[in-house]
Amino acid sequence: MSGEGDLSPVTVIGLGPMGRAMAASLLRSGHPVTVWNRTARRADDLVAGGATLAPTPAAAVAASELTILSLTDYQSMYDVLGPVAGSSGTSAVPDRAGVPDGSGVLDGRVLVNLSSDTPDASRHAAAWAAGHGATFVTGGVMVPAPAVGGPGAYVFYSGPRAVFDAHEPMLRLIGEPRYLGEDPGLAQLFYQAHLDVFLTALSSLLHATALVTAAGVPAADFLPGALDTLTAIPAMIGDGADLARRLEAGEHPGDLSTARMMGTTADHIVWTSEKAGIDTRLPKAVRAHYDKAIAAGRGTENWTVLYEMLEAGD
Ligand SMILES: NC(=O)c1ccc[n+]([C@@H]2O[C@H](COP(=O)([O-])OP(=O)(O)OC[C@H]3O[C@@H](n4cnc5c(N)ncnc54)[C@H](OP(=O)(O)O)[C@@H]3O)[C@@H](O)[C@H]2O)c1
Repeated sequence: MSGEGDLSPVTVIGLGPMGRAMAASLLRSGHPVTVWNRTARRADDLVAGGATLAPTPAAAVAASELTILSLTDYQSMYDVLGPVAGSSGTSAVPDRAGVPDGSGVLDGRVLVNLSSDTPDASRHAAAWAAGHGATFVTGGVMVPAPAVGGPGAYVFYSGPRAVFDAHEPMLRLIGEPRYLGEDPGLAQLFYQAHLDVFLTALSSLLHATALVTAAGVPAADFLPGALDTLTAIPAMIGDGADLARRLEAGEHPGDLSTARMMGTTADHIVWTSEKAGIDTRLPKAVRAHYDKAIAAGRGTENWTVLYEMLEAGD
């Protein structure tokens, strides 16, 4: 367990940009850090900085009570730890048959998986780890690698509260930990929901840039103002708590920015994109949300009524 001032050993498996940044931050804070990566040379800088390169995943897990995983996805974890765990475990679907509970190197260990995948993959992995005597904490890192360990970095976690609390001081070195609850799927759910906002915003920014450059306007004339629009959104729509209250109460009074008005604007964006000869799939998807509200007879309500349209499947 790690506590205030406690410099427990820690293992990091997976040395892509994220894993390297995490290991470097832990090293800087004085923790003994053991690392393992499929491509060993990616550990060179960390080893030069004082990390120990384990020869095998088993040796890496054995070196510390806590192992942080930073791999492409959860299947990579089964690829790396399945053979170590002594099970058939190379499948993303946990196969507990024949698992020699407690006999593998994972027994008594804490796995903190900061790789991305689905909430269900996290739940399956928690059961898989438990089947091998390990405790599993799920995480989702909300900043890119250069920001890891710095101000503004934060990480969603879910899983057993007591285990999270015991290791929270060490996890804080990666970014501010935001614990969501015991359900192992919660951290990935929040990670994905935030990236839903992020990825869609990035696509809209690039689509809009393509729209203006197709008209011969330099991107530099457009992008600074477009970024101002992004940052002005909170002031336009109210803080998250107030918006959540209105969505939950089903309050869409139709006094401002109705679905019909916004849908007409969405039409204009599609038509202008078509005329410009650029990709129209994103504005058509947005327009489809407004069309759905208008077809449901709710065009005179505020744009927030789209929430009720989106709650229902296609
Ligand atoms: N980069 C970001 O900005 C960012 C931000 C937030 C969250 N994340 C998440 O953090 C995780 C790591 O990100 P990253 O950018 O460091 O990813 P990455 O560049 O894809 O690195 C992935 C790591 O996984 C290893 N790996 C992949 N498949 C494997 C397999 N089958 N067996 C063994 N090792 C395998 C790679 O090993 P090799 O070196 O041998 O290829 C590498 O160490 C991802 O889940 C990502 O979605 C990333």
